[in-house]
Amino acid sequence: MEASMADGLENVIAAETILSHVDGEAGRLILRGRDLETLAGKVSFEDAVGVLWDGIVPVPADLRDALGKGRIRAFARFAPMLPALAGLGAVETMRALLAAMPDGASEPVLLLGAAGVAAAMAIRAEKHREIAPPDLTAGHAADLLRMIRHRPGDATEIKAFETYLVTVMDHGLNASTFAARVVASTAAGLSSAVVAGLCALKGPLHGGAPGPVLDMLDAIGTAANAERWIGAALDRGERLMGFGHRVYRVRDPRADVLKAAVSGLRHRSERIRLAEAVEAAALRALQARKAHRRLDTNVEYYTALLLEALDIPRHGFTPVFGAARAAGWIAHAHEQESGGRLIRPQSRYIGPMPTEAA
Ligand code: ACO
Repeated sequence: MEASMADGLENVIAAETILSHVDGEAGRLILRGRDLETLAGKVSFEDAVGVLWDGIVPVPADLRDALGKGRIRAFARFAPMLPALAGLGAVETMRALLAAMPDGASEPVLLLGAAGVAAAMAIRAEKHREIAPPDLTAGHAADLLRMIRHRPGDATEIKAFETYLVTVMDHGLNASTFAARVVASTAAGLSSAVVAGLCALKGPLHGGAPGPVLDMLDAIGTAANAERWIGAALDRGERLMGFGHRVYRVRDPRADVLKAAVSGLRHRSERIRLAEAVEAAALRALQARKAHRRLDTNVEYYTALLLEALDIPRHGFTPVFGAARAAGWIAHAHEQESGGRLIRPQSRYIGPMPTEAA
Protein backbone atom coordinates (compact mmCIF):
# COMPACT_ATOMS: atom_id res chain seq x y z
CA MET A 1 0.00 0.00 0.00
CA GLU A 2 1.29 3.46 -0.88
CA ALA A 3 2.10 5.73 2.06
CA SER A 4 0.06 8.94 2.37
CA MET A 5 1.59 12.29 1.55
CA ALA A 6 1.62 15.33 3.83
CA ASP A 7 2.20 18.55 1.93
CA GLY A 8 5.08 20.42 3.54
CA LEU A 9 5.30 17.51 6.02
CA GLU A 10 2.63 19.31 8.08
CA ASN A 11 1.68 17.32 11.20
CA VAL A 12 4.27 14.65 10.39
CA ILE A 13 6.42 13.56 13.33
CA ALA A 14 9.88 12.94 11.87
CA ALA A 15 12.02 12.71 15.01
CA GLU A 16 11.88 12.14 18.75
CA THR A 17 13.80 14.65 20.83
CA ILE A 18 14.41 15.56 24.44
CA LEU A 19 15.66 19.02 23.44
CA SER A 20 12.61 21.23 22.92
CA HIS A 21 8.86 21.12 22.46
CA VAL A 22 6.65 23.61 20.65
CA ASP A 23 3.08 23.47 21.91
CA GLY A 24 1.31 25.25 19.11
CA GLU A 25 -2.13 25.28 20.73
CA ALA A 26 -1.02 26.56 24.13
CA GLY A 27 1.63 28.94 22.73
CA ARG A 28 4.30 27.36 24.87
CA LEU A 29 7.98 26.59 24.19
CA ILE A 30 9.67 24.06 26.46
CA LEU A 31 13.45 23.67 26.44
CA ARG A 32 14.81 20.63 28.29
CA GLY A 33 11.77 20.51 30.55
CA ARG A 34 11.73 24.24 31.30
CA ASP A 35 9.48 26.98 29.98
CA LEU A 36 11.36 29.44 27.78
CA GLU A 37 10.42 32.26 30.17
CA THR A 38 12.49 30.66 32.95
CA LEU A 39 15.65 30.88 30.82
CA ALA A 40 15.37 33.88 28.47
CA GLY A 41 16.40 37.07 30.26
CA LYS A 42 17.26 35.02 33.33
CA VAL A 43 20.46 33.17 32.44
CA SER A 44 23.52 33.79 30.26
CA PHE A 45 23.79 32.32 26.77
CA GLU A 46 26.51 29.97 28.04
CA ASP A 47 24.29 28.71 30.87
CA ALA A 48 21.36 28.21 28.51
CA VAL A 49 23.59 26.24 26.12
CA GLY A 50 24.73 24.18 29.12
CA VAL A 51 21.08 23.35 29.86
CA LEU A 52 20.28 22.52 26.23
CA TRP A 53 23.38 20.40 25.65
CA ASP A 54 23.39 18.62 29.02
CA GLY A 55 23.94 14.88 28.48
CA ILE A 56 23.77 15.21 24.69
CA VAL A 57 26.75 17.30 23.63
CA PRO A 58 30.00 17.30 25.64
CA VAL A 59 30.03 20.50 27.72
CA PRO A 60 33.43 21.66 29.07
CA ALA A 61 33.60 22.59 32.76
CA ASP A 62 34.18 26.27 31.85
CA LEU A 63 31.95 26.77 28.82
CA ARG A 64 32.44 30.55 28.77
CA ASP A 65 36.20 30.17 28.52
CA ALA A 66 35.97 27.35 25.95
CA LEU A 67 33.58 29.39 23.83
CA GLY A 68 35.95 32.38 23.98
CA LYS A 69 38.82 30.17 22.85
CA GLY A 70 36.62 28.85 20.07
CA ARG A 71 35.92 32.40 18.89
CA ILE A 72 39.63 33.20 18.84
CA ARG A 73 40.54 30.07 16.88
CA ALA A 74 37.73 30.64 14.40
CA PHE A 75 38.71 34.30 13.91
CA ALA A 76 42.29 33.28 13.04
CA ARG A 77 40.98 30.74 10.56
CA PHE A 78 38.41 33.04 8.93
CA ALA A 79 40.34 36.34 8.68
CA PRO A 80 42.49 35.33 5.68
CA MET A 81 39.40 34.08 3.84
CA LEU A 82 37.47 37.37 3.85
CA PRO A 83 39.12 39.08 0.84
CA ALA A 84 38.12 36.20 -1.43
CA LEU A 85 34.48 36.52 -0.28
CA ALA A 86 34.09 40.22 -1.13
CA GLY A 87 30.79 40.98 -2.82
CA LEU A 88 28.80 38.21 -1.14
CA GLY A 89 25.82 38.98 1.10
CA ALA A 90 26.20 38.50 4.86
CA VAL A 91 24.53 35.07 5.05
CA GLU A 92 26.50 33.88 2.02
CA THR A 93 29.74 35.00 3.66
CA MET A 94 28.78 33.34 6.93
CA ARG A 95 27.94 30.15 5.03
CA ALA A 96 31.31 30.19 3.22
CA LEU A 97 33.24 30.76 6.46
CA LEU A 98 31.44 27.97 8.31
CA ALA A 99 31.92 25.65 5.34
CA ALA A 100 35.66 25.97 5.98
CA MET A 101 35.31 24.23 9.37
CA PRO A 102 36.46 20.63 8.95
CA ASP A 103 33.83 18.02 9.75
CA GLY A 104 35.91 15.54 11.69
CA ALA A 105 37.98 17.97 13.72
CA SER A 106 35.37 20.54 14.72
CA GLU A 107 34.34 19.99 18.29
CA PRO A 108 30.91 21.41 19.21
CA VAL A 109 32.09 24.35 21.32
CA LEU A 110 34.55 25.45 18.63
CA LEU A 111 31.78 25.26 16.06
CA LEU A 112 29.39 27.32 18.21
CA GLY A 113 32.09 29.94 18.74
CA ALA A 114 32.81 29.84 15.01
CA ALA A 115 29.14 30.43 14.16
CA GLY A 116 29.14 33.60 16.27
CA VAL A 117 32.40 34.90 14.84
CA ALA A 118 31.36 34.02 11.27
CA ALA A 119 28.13 36.00 11.80
CA ALA A 120 29.96 39.05 13.17
CA MET A 121 32.64 38.97 10.45
CA ALA A 122 30.06 38.49 7.70
CA ILE A 123 27.95 41.42 8.97
CA ARG A 124 30.98 43.72 9.07
CA ALA A 125 32.33 42.48 5.74
CA GLU A 126 29.12 43.14 3.80
CA LYS A 127 29.67 46.87 4.34
CA HIS A 128 33.50 46.56 4.05
CA ARG A 129 33.87 47.53 7.67
CA GLU A 130 36.79 46.82 9.97
CA ILE A 131 36.34 43.99 12.47
CA ALA A 132 37.98 43.73 15.87
CA PRO A 133 39.16 40.30 17.09
CA PRO A 134 37.24 38.40 19.78
CA ASP A 135 37.87 39.00 23.48
CA LEU A 136 38.54 35.79 25.36
CA THR A 137 37.44 37.28 28.66
CA ALA A 138 34.00 38.49 27.52
CA GLY A 139 30.75 36.57 27.59
CA HIS A 140 29.58 35.31 24.20
CA ALA A 141 26.67 37.78 23.87
CA ALA A 142 28.72 40.82 24.91
CA ASP A 143 31.57 39.86 22.61
CA LEU A 144 29.38 39.26 19.57
CA LEU A 145 27.53 42.54 20.10
CA ARG A 146 30.83 44.41 20.32
CA MET A 147 32.25 42.71 17.23
CA ILE A 148 29.10 43.31 15.17
CA ARG A 149 28.85 47.02 16.05
CA HIS A 150 32.52 47.79 16.64
CA ARG A 151 31.58 49.25 20.02
CA PRO A 152 30.65 47.56 23.28
CA GLY A 153 27.12 47.36 24.58
CA ASP A 154 26.02 48.68 27.94
CA ALA A 155 24.58 46.27 30.50
CA THR A 156 20.98 46.76 29.29
CA GLU A 157 21.91 46.19 25.66
CA ILE A 158 23.94 43.09 26.43
CA LYS A 159 21.07 41.68 28.47
CA ALA A 160 18.60 42.33 25.64
CA PHE A 161 20.89 40.71 23.08
CA GLU A 162 21.51 37.74 25.37
CA THR A 163 17.75 37.38 25.88
CA TYR A 164 17.38 37.22 22.10
CA LEU A 165 20.12 34.60 21.68
CA VAL A 166 18.57 32.36 24.34
CA THR A 167 15.03 32.87 23.01
CA VAL A 168 15.84 31.62 19.50
CA MET A 169 18.41 28.96 20.45
CA ASP A 170 16.17 25.98 19.75
CA HIS A 171 12.63 25.43 18.54
CA GLY A 172 11.58 21.86 17.83
CA LEU A 173 11.84 20.50 14.33
CA ASN A 174 11.78 23.77 12.42
CA ALA A 175 12.97 23.75 8.79
CA SER A 176 16.62 24.53 9.52
CA THR A 177 16.84 22.03 12.37
CA PHE A 178 15.25 19.38 10.18
CA ALA A 179 17.82 20.17 7.46
CA ALA A 180 20.61 19.81 10.02
CA ARG A 181 19.18 16.50 11.25
CA VAL A 182 18.84 15.13 7.70
CA VAL A 183 22.52 15.85 7.06
CA ALA A 184 23.53 14.47 10.48
CA SER A 185 21.53 11.31 9.75
CA THR A 186 23.87 10.52 6.85
CA ALA A 187 26.88 10.74 9.25
CA ALA A 188 28.28 13.59 7.15
CA GLY A 189 29.60 15.40 10.23
CA LEU A 190 28.80 18.31 12.49
CA SER A 191 30.03 21.23 10.39
CA SER A 192 28.06 19.98 7.41
CA ALA A 193 24.92 19.76 9.56
CA VAL A 194 25.38 23.35 10.78
CA VAL A 195 25.96 24.68 7.25
CA ALA A 196 22.80 22.87 6.11
CA GLY A 197 20.88 24.51 8.94
CA LEU A 198 22.10 27.95 7.93
CA CYS A 199 21.16 27.38 4.29
CA ALA A 200 17.59 26.56 5.31
CA LEU A 201 17.42 29.49 7.74
CA LYS A 202 18.28 32.02 5.06
CA GLY A 203 14.89 32.12 3.35
CA PRO A 204 12.23 34.72 4.21
CA LEU A 205 9.71 32.02 5.15
CA HIS A 206 12.03 31.03 8.00
CA GLY A 207 14.90 33.17 9.35
CA GLY A 208 15.00 35.87 6.70
CA ALA A 209 11.80 37.66 7.75
CA PRO A 210 12.89 40.29 10.31
CA GLY A 211 14.68 42.60 7.85
CA PRO A 212 11.51 42.80 5.71
CA VAL A 213 9.46 43.46 8.89
CA LEU A 214 11.34 46.74 9.31
CA ASP A 215 10.99 47.51 5.61
CA MET A 216 7.23 47.13 6.14
CA LEU A 217 7.18 49.42 9.20
CA ASP A 218 9.20 52.03 7.29
CA ALA A 219 6.87 51.84 4.32
CA ILE A 220 3.78 52.19 6.56
CA GLY A 221 5.36 55.13 8.39
CA THR A 222 2.45 56.12 10.66
CA ALA A 223 -0.19 54.21 12.60
CA ALA A 224 -2.91 55.95 10.59
CA ASN A 225 -1.53 54.44 7.40
CA ALA A 226 -1.37 50.85 8.71
CA GLU A 227 -4.78 49.55 7.69
CA ARG A 228 -4.64 50.94 4.15
CA TRP A 229 -1.08 49.73 3.53
CA ILE A 230 -1.76 46.24 4.88
CA GLY A 231 -4.99 45.92 2.89
CA ALA A 232 -3.17 46.87 -0.31
CA ALA A 233 -0.34 44.40 0.37
CA LEU A 234 -2.81 41.56 0.97
CA ASP A 235 -4.74 42.59 -2.16
CA ARG A 236 -1.51 42.09 -4.12
CA GLY A 237 -1.31 38.58 -2.64
CA GLU A 238 1.73 39.39 -0.50
CA ARG A 239 2.48 37.82 2.86
CA LEU A 240 2.94 39.99 5.91
CA MET A 241 6.36 39.28 7.35
CA GLY A 242 6.38 38.43 11.05
CA PHE A 243 2.94 36.76 11.00
CA GLY A 244 1.91 33.13 10.70
CA HIS A 245 3.59 29.95 11.80
CA ARG A 246 3.40 26.31 10.85
CA VAL A 247 2.92 25.10 14.41
CA TYR A 248 1.63 28.00 16.54
CA ARG A 249 -2.10 28.62 16.26
CA VAL A 250 -1.84 31.30 18.93
CA ARG A 251 0.68 34.03 19.57
CA ASP A 252 4.29 32.82 19.45
CA PRO A 253 5.49 32.99 23.08
CA ARG A 254 8.89 34.19 21.90
CA ALA A 255 7.26 37.36 20.55
CA ASP A 256 6.22 38.36 24.10
CA VAL A 257 9.65 37.63 25.55
CA LEU A 258 11.31 39.79 22.90
CA LYS A 259 8.73 42.55 23.14
CA ALA A 260 9.44 42.81 26.87
CA ALA A 261 13.19 42.89 26.18
CA VAL A 262 12.92 45.64 23.58
CA SER A 263 10.64 47.71 25.81
CA GLY A 264 13.52 47.97 28.30
CA LEU A 265 15.77 49.69 25.77
CA ARG A 266 15.96 53.47 25.59
CA HIS A 267 14.25 55.64 22.99
CA ARG A 268 12.12 52.82 21.64
CA SER A 269 8.67 53.92 22.71
CA GLU A 270 7.68 55.60 19.44
CA ARG A 271 8.82 52.68 17.28
CA ILE A 272 7.05 50.22 19.59
CA ARG A 273 3.83 52.25 19.39
CA LEU A 274 3.97 52.11 15.59
CA ALA A 275 4.75 48.38 15.70
CA GLU A 276 1.82 47.74 18.02
CA ALA A 277 -0.57 49.65 15.75
CA VAL A 278 0.70 47.77 12.68
CA GLU A 279 0.47 44.46 14.53
CA ALA A 280 -3.14 45.12 15.55
CA ALA A 281 -4.11 46.16 12.01
CA ALA A 282 -2.33 43.14 10.53
CA LEU A 283 -4.07 40.71 12.89
CA ARG A 284 -7.46 42.24 12.10
CA ALA A 285 -6.83 42.02 8.35
CA LEU A 286 -5.50 38.45 8.51
CA GLN A 287 -8.46 37.33 10.59
CA ALA A 288 -10.87 38.90 8.11
CA ARG A 289 -9.21 37.59 4.96
CA LYS A 290 -7.67 34.29 6.07
CA ALA A 291 -10.32 33.05 8.46
CA HIS A 292 -9.52 29.44 7.46
CA ARG A 293 -6.00 29.75 8.91
CA ARG A 294 -5.30 31.14 12.38
CA LEU A 295 -2.44 33.60 11.81
CA ASP A 296 -0.78 35.35 14.72
CA THR A 297 2.41 37.28 15.45
CA ASN A 298 5.58 35.20 15.20
CA VAL A 299 9.04 35.61 16.73
CA GLU A 300 10.42 37.57 13.79
CA TYR A 301 8.19 40.61 14.38
CA TYR A 302 9.72 41.66 17.69
CA THR A 303 13.11 40.22 16.73
CA ALA A 304 13.22 42.95 14.12
CA LEU A 305 12.48 45.67 16.66
CA LEU A 306 14.94 44.31 19.19
CA LEU A 307 17.85 43.96 16.78
CA GLU A 308 17.11 47.38 15.30
CA ALA A 309 17.13 48.92 18.78
CA LEU A 310 20.56 47.38 19.32
CA ASP A 311 21.85 49.07 16.14
CA ILE A 312 22.42 45.77 14.42
CA PRO A 313 22.08 46.39 10.67
CA ARG A 314 19.21 44.68 8.84
CA HIS A 315 21.52 42.53 6.76
CA GLY A 316 22.82 41.12 10.04
CA PHE A 317 19.51 39.81 11.39
CA THR A 318 19.67 36.37 9.80
CA PRO A 319 23.37 35.84 10.65
CA VAL A 320 22.77 36.57 14.35
CA PHE A 321 19.77 34.23 14.30
CA GLY A 322 22.09 31.56 12.86
CA ALA A 323 24.73 32.26 15.52
CA ALA A 324 22.14 31.52 18.22
CA ARG A 325 20.34 28.64 16.48
CA ALA A 326 23.70 26.91 15.89
CA ALA A 327 23.42 25.77 19.52
CA GLY A 328 20.21 23.95 18.59
CA TRP A 329 21.54 22.56 15.29
CA ILE A 330 24.57 21.12 17.08
CA ALA A 331 22.43 19.53 19.79
CA HIS A 332 19.98 18.05 17.27
CA ALA A 333 22.82 16.76 15.08
CA HIS A 334 24.32 14.98 18.11
CA GLU A 335 20.97 13.57 19.14
CA GLN A 336 20.31 12.38 15.59
CA GLU A 337 23.76 10.82 15.24
CA SER A 338 23.52 9.01 18.55
CA GLY A 339 20.13 7.41 18.17
CA GLY A 340 18.47 8.15 14.86
CA ARG A 341 18.33 6.31 11.57
CA LEU A 342 19.06 7.67 8.12
CA ILE A 343 16.24 10.10 7.25
CA ARG A 344 15.02 9.03 3.85
CA PRO A 345 11.37 9.65 2.97
CA GLN A 346 9.79 8.84 -0.38
CA SER A 347 8.31 10.91 -3.14
CA ARG A 348 5.22 10.07 -5.14
CA TYR A 349 6.05 9.92 -8.84
CA ILE A 350 3.52 11.92 -10.89
CA GLY A 351 5.48 12.08 -14.15
CA PRO A 352 4.88 10.03 -17.29
CA MET A 353 5.71 6.32 -17.39
CA PRO A 354 7.86 4.95 -20.22
CA THR A 355 5.73 3.85 -23.16
CA GLU A 356 5.85 0.16 -24.05
CA ALA A 357 8.10 -0.48 -27.07
CA ALA A 358 5.95 -1.23 -30.11
N1 ACO B 1 0.57 36.90 5.52
C1 ACO B 1 -0.50 36.67 4.73
N2 ACO B 1 -1.02 35.44 4.52
C2 ACO B 1 -0.42 34.41 5.12
C3 ACO B 1 0.70 34.57 5.96
C4 ACO B 1 1.19 35.89 6.15
N3 ACO B 1 2.24 36.13 6.93
N4 ACO B 1 1.10 33.37 6.41
C5 ACO B 1 0.26 32.47 5.89
N5 ACO B 1 -0.65 33.10 5.11
C6 ACO B 1 -1.77 32.49 4.38
C7 ACO B 1 -1.31 31.92 3.06
O1 ACO B 1 -1.36 32.88 2.03
C8 ACO B 1 -2.32 30.79 2.87
O2 ACO B 1 -3.54 31.37 2.44
P1 ACO B 1 -4.43 30.61 1.34
O3 ACO B 1 -4.86 29.31 2.01
O4 ACO B 1 -5.56 31.55 1.12
O5 ACO B 1 -3.56 30.38 0.14
C9 ACO B 1 -2.55 30.29 4.29
O6 ACO B 1 -2.23 31.38 5.15
C10 ACO B 1 -1.69 29.10 4.66
O7 ACO B 1 -0.34 29.37 4.21
P2 ACO B 1 0.81 28.27 4.33
O8 ACO B 1 2.01 28.75 3.59
O9 ACO B 1 0.27 26.93 3.98
O10 ACO B 1 1.02 28.31 5.90
P3 ACO B 1 2.22 27.73 6.72
O11 ACO B 1 1.73 27.56 8.09
O12 ACO B 1 2.79 26.56 6.03
O13 ACO B 1 3.29 28.92 6.63
C11 ACO B 1 4.88 30.54 7.23
C12 ACO B 1 4.07 29.31 7.70
C13 ACO B 1 5.78 30.14 6.09
C14 ACO B 1 5.72 31.04 8.39
C15 ACO B 1 3.89 31.65 6.76
O14 ACO B 1 2.99 31.98 7.79
C16 ACO B 1 4.60 32.90 6.23
O15 ACO B 1 4.99 32.94 5.07
N6 ACO B 1 4.78 33.94 7.10
C17 ACO B 1 5.47 35.14 6.66
C18 ACO B 1 6.99 34.97 6.75
C19 ACO B 1 7.49 34.90 8.18
O16 ACO B 1 7.02 35.63 9.05
N7 ACO B 1 8.46 34.00 8.40
C20 ACO B 1 9.05 33.76 9.73
C21 ACO B 1 8.44 32.54 10.35
S1 ACO B 1 9.01 32.30 12.02
C22 ACO B 1 10.46 31.46 11.85
O17 ACO B 1 10.64 30.66 10.98
C23 ACO B 1 11.56 31.75 12.80
